[in-house]
Parts: sequence; structure tokens; C-alpha cells
Amino acid sequence: MADRPIALAVVGGRRGRIVEGALPRLTGRLEVAAICDPDPEVLRVWKERHPEIRVYTDYDRLLADPPCNAVFVASPLLLHASQSIKAMDAGMDVLCEVSASQTMDDCWALVETVERTGRTYMMAENHCYERDALAVLNMVRQGMFGDLYYAEGFYLNDHSFHYINPDGSLHWWGQLRVDFEGNWYPTHALGPVAWWLDATSRGSDRLSTIATFGCTGHSTEHYLAERLPADHPLRKLRFAMSDSTTSIITTEQHKMIVLRSDWTSRRPSNTGHYALQGTKGAYHSGRYDGEPGLAWLDGESPTRPNGLADQFDSFDQYAEKYQHPRWAETEDVAQEWDRPILLMLTDFVEAVERRTPPAIDVYDSVAWSSITPLSAQSLAEESATIDIPDFARRRAG
Ligand SMILES: NC(=O)c1ccc[n+]([C@@H]2O[C@H](COP(=O)([O-])OP(=O)(O)OC[C@H]3O[C@@H](n4cnc5c(N)ncnc54)[C@H](O)[C@@H]3O)[C@@H](O)[C@H]2O)c1
Repeated sequence: MADRPIALAVVGGRRGRIVEGALPRLTGRLEVAAICDPDPEVLRVWKERHPEIRVYTDYDRLLADPPCNAVFVASPLLLHASQSIKAMDAGMDVLCEVSASQTMDDCWALVETVERTGRTYMMAENHCYERDALAVLNMVRQGMFGDLYYAEGFYLNDHSFHYINPDGSLHWWGQLRVDFEGNWYPTHALGPVAWWLDATSRGSDRLSTIATFGCTGHSTEHYLAERLPADHPLRKLRFAMSDSTTSIITTEQHKMIVLRSDWTSRRPSNTGHYALQGTKGAYHSGRYDGEPGLAWLDGESPTRPNGLADQFDSFDQYAEKYQHPRWAETEDVAQEWDRPILLMLTDFVEAVERRTPPAIDVYDSVAWSSITPLSAQSLAEESATIDIPDFARRRAG
């Protein structure tokens, strides 16, 4: 433990609130020193809850004379890379919400900045720390699925309610759909899968190629047509982004990942659909948020007399039996959704305190985030297969 706690500035005060649930467990190691958000109402709520913190409406003013030595970037997506780079250039460590960057130039700029400044940079991919994701990781490491060769990660979450601001203008989530094509917001779907396949900057494999396919039912236009009069300015918008985008990613060791992103289709959400197949077993998460997952494991699950797999077991029994040791650290956390956040923040704090690489380092952060620009490139080239750069440049020596 360091002599003094990390003084954190929260940048973007809505999602930024997630740190609050973990603060009691990180007393003496992490404290919030500042909030930065252009919205006065967001600042008012923070100041009411944390009277001692400094408030900023302007990010450059925060960095000019910072009352902090780290920032948690939780602002709109397109600001993440530039705000992270500015913070590291000002001597701060960075925890950044997903995704880390939306362009290839920004992916490389993040790598360059971390290598030049030596600051800690971690992407806040909380799905890696979910109970089932960690249990599957534990089982993978014990060889229970055998040799892995196929995985799925889907993020299916209808964001339509987000698209219209209270003043009738288009929210930034909606604007992204107007301006961009591609597999956006891919890291919830990819993060846990990359951990299971050990396709990480310090792992035995790495993400190697991507080809992407998209389709549209004009869901957003339908959504707006149902809610807005015909002469409303938003009714004239045309949305560039596919309603559903599927990327097929291969790894250097010829494993395959099917990665689907869909945040406009009208359906109950499934923000963490995963599947994993190995030579000895299979895992499937639930079909919608809250439905228990399934697993079939050779030697443990129902098997027919001829040796073929019979029926899946509920994954809950395996999640308990093979609970990841880290999950036990969160048993006294009151809110279920705070548990992964605590583990993620603990990893960030430890990396800063010890000056060791964080659990999700800059190389993995940008490799997972690069799916967005690379998928857009693939779609623009009739679903061509595109190489994913080796951001850690391990093979180059
Ligand atoms: N990991 C997760 O599960 C998860 C969940 C929700 C959101 N997020 C991420 O968090 C980020 C924020 O999402 P949200 O839902 O809170 O969005 P939001 O639009 O509700 O809130 C964004 C906040 O950032 C503020 N902001 C705008 N410009 C800013 C600037 N220049 N500097 C500082 N703050 C600024 C806005 O005033 C607003 O308060 C997004 O990038 C999103 O990807 C992650």
C-alpha cells in the first residue's frame, strides 16, 4: 500500500458514479478529489454527496492545476482517447471507460503515450470481472473445457431510449449511429472471451484477423417514427450504422470468435451473451440478462450410453463449485452490480501503487477497441478480412 491514497478526478459524472460503491473498501488507497462535467446538475449532485471535492466544468482547467494524480474518464465515447492522452501528458494515471479509442490513430497514440510517459493506463472493462466470466476463466485454467477453439461474445442492448435528449435533440449515442458504421462498443463482448482464450498482450495467443458483416431493419428510424411527429428534425436523419453487426475474429492459433454488437434492435437486453467451446466441454450464457447460463463438461454432465453429450447443466452449480478466488473478495459488497466494479478498481489501484502493468493494459485496451475502426474498414471493403495489429509488438521483438 502506498503512503497516500490515489486522488482521483472523475471525468463524466453519470457513469462516473460507479466508483462510489467501491470507495468504502478502498479507504486509504483511493479517494475522489474532483469531479469534472459540463452539466451543472451533475456537479450539484456530486458536491452534495461529496462536499470536500473540487468541481470543474472544463477538463483543461482541471489538468492545469490538478488536485488529483489519476483520472477516471467516463465521458462520452468520442472523448475517451483524447482525454486519456491529455491526462497522461499531465502526469496522471488513467482508468478509462470502454471503449478506449474509436480510431486506429488514437489506438496507436494511446500506446505511444503510455510508453513515453510511463503512466498507468487501464480500460475499465467490467464484464471481465463478472461472476460467471471469472468462474469460466477459473475452469479454463483448470483445463475443464480442454483445448479451446470457438467462442462467442454478443452485446445486445437496446439503447433507443437514449437517442432523444429531453430537449428533443439527438443524444450522442444516436449521433454515433448517424455518423459511423461498424462494430461499435465491442469490448464488453470481447474482453472476457480474450481472457478465456489467453489472447492478451501477455498471453499465449493474440487476436489476428477480423471480417465484419452488417444488416439493417432501420430500427432507429422506426423507433423515432413511432415517437416523433413527421416534421420533427430527427425524422430526416439517416443512420449509417447497421442495426446488427457481426465480426468474425480469428486468433494467431486459429481459434474463432463470433462478436456481435447490436444496440438498437427491439428485444430484451442480453448485455453479456457468451459461448465457449473446447475439446472437453461447452459453456453458454443465458439468452437474456438474468437467465442462468448452461454448461456441459465431459465427466461431470449428463452423458448418453454411447458417450455423446446429453443435456446441459445449469451453469449456476459450476459457478459455485469453481468460483474464482477473486469473487470471494466481494462477498460483503451489498449491491450485486458493485462487485465486478470493486475488483476492477482494486486492480487499477494495485497497478498504480506497485507500478506494475494493469490487468487490462493499454495493449489489450486498444486491441479490443480497434475492432470498431477495423470492422468499419472491413464493411467498407465488402466484408474483407483485415489484419489486427500486434499493438504490443511482441513478435517484432
Ligand atoms: N462499462 C459499462 O458497463 C458502461 C455503462 C454505461 C456507460 N459506459 C461508458 O461510460 C461513458 C459515459 O456513458 P454515460 O451513459 O454516463 O453517458 P451520459 O451521456 O449519460 O453521460 C456523459 C456525461 O459526460 C459529461 N460530459 C460531456 N462532455 C464532457 C467533457 N468534455 N468532459 C467531462 N464530462 C463530459 C456529460 O455532461 C454527462 O454528464 C460512455 O463512454 C460509455 O461507453 C460504460
